[in-house]
Parts: sequence; structure tokens; C-alpha cells
Amino acid sequence: MSETILGILASGRGSNMQAICNSIDAGKLHAKVGLVISDKANAKVLEHAMAKGIPCICIERKNFASKQDFEAAIAKELTLYNVKLVVLAGFMRILSSFFVNLFPGSIMNIHPSLLPAFPGLDAHEQALAYGAKVSGCTIHFVDEGMDTGPIIMQQAVPILVDDTVDTLAQRILAVEHELYPQAIGLYCDQRLSLEGRNVKII
Ligand code: GRF
Repeated sequence: MSETILGILASGRGSNMQAICNSIDAGKLHAKVGLVISDKANAKVLEHAMAKGIPCICIERKNFASKQDFEAAIAKELTLYNVKLVVLAGFMRILSSFFVNLFPGSIMNIHPSLLPAFPGLDAHEQALAYGAKVSGCTIHFVDEGMDTGPIIMQQAVPILVDDTVDTLAQRILAVEHELYPQAIGLYCDQRLSLEGRNVKII
């Protein structure tokens, strides 16, 4: 089977992008990162992509008259690079149904909580403020809602009494770095089947 080409969309630090690349380099994930796109010119993820010789582009929302034009520009690049799976890794924008429909069942996101708990921004802060004893991370297919798409994988992470946003985020991030390459691997091996909201691992 040929390598599945991934297109990573990210707005910031890019540690998940690096974990995905490391997993590919280690021969654990049979995929290729074809392209990294950021909507932020100064995003660290672009530096990481450049250092690895991965094509990377910045596409900023402010340069487009409408959200659809912005998303069409992203989609155009992804198509140009033959991307089969769009991987959101800290991409801080909600994609519209226009974009989602261009890549049916082929957009994944990672979120640092056990969805449907604590969606959206500041998931760690939300979990701590709520007094939850457990949080974690979720990998899901993307629909037009905010963190609402069909769940692919989840892993729980304990919340400790003296946790701060930073300590909790760190503990969850270590799990994210393991889980995201695994979920992508299942997609690449065609082991994910979507029935309504239910994702089955086959
Ligand atoms: C991660 O915590 C991810 O769950 C969330 O955004 C963060 C991105 O971190 N969606 P990084 O840019 O991959 O380091």
C-alpha cells in the first residue's frame, strides 16, 4: 500500500506535528507529511517543518475577503499536494461545512479533554475550574461544529490535587503525542469505519 499523504494544519507550537513526524521517522506510521499549513506567520510549526524539509505555507485569514475564500485557498494547496488526510494539530479555527465537505471523513482533530466535556478554548482551565478528577485527550473526525465530530480515540489522564493549567497540559500532551500517530495510523491502514456518529476500529 502506498503512503498516505497528510496535510497538517496548525497555528502554533507544533509539538503534535513533530510527534507525527517522529513516528513516521521511526517507521511506526506509514504516512508522509506532504504539507504543513499555518494561519500564523510566526508559528513555530513552520520552523519545525522547514527544519525537516517539509513544504510549508502560511495562509492568513486577513488576506481573504471571506472565510470561504480563505478555506478554498487552503483546500487548493492540500489538493495540489495530493493530501488524503487533513490533520488539525492546534489549528485555532473552526472549519465551515464548505471545507469539511471537500474532505469527507478525512479531517481529524485532537482536543485536550475527554469530549464532549470541555470543548473549545482553554480545555485544561475548564477541567480544573469544574473540579474534574479526570480529563484526557480526544481524537475525532471533524464536522462543522466545535469539537463535535465522531470520536476515534480517547485516553483518560488523572487530574491531581495540586495541578495547574501547565502541569495538567503537560501530562495530557505526553498522551496526545502517543495517541495522535496511532489514530492516524488506523486511518492510513483503512481500519476506521464510520457508521453515523460511531467510529469502529476494524
Ligand atoms: C494541543 O494541546 C492540542 O490538543 C490542541 O492544541 C494543542 C496544540 O499543541 N488542539 P501543539 O501545537 O501540537 O504543540
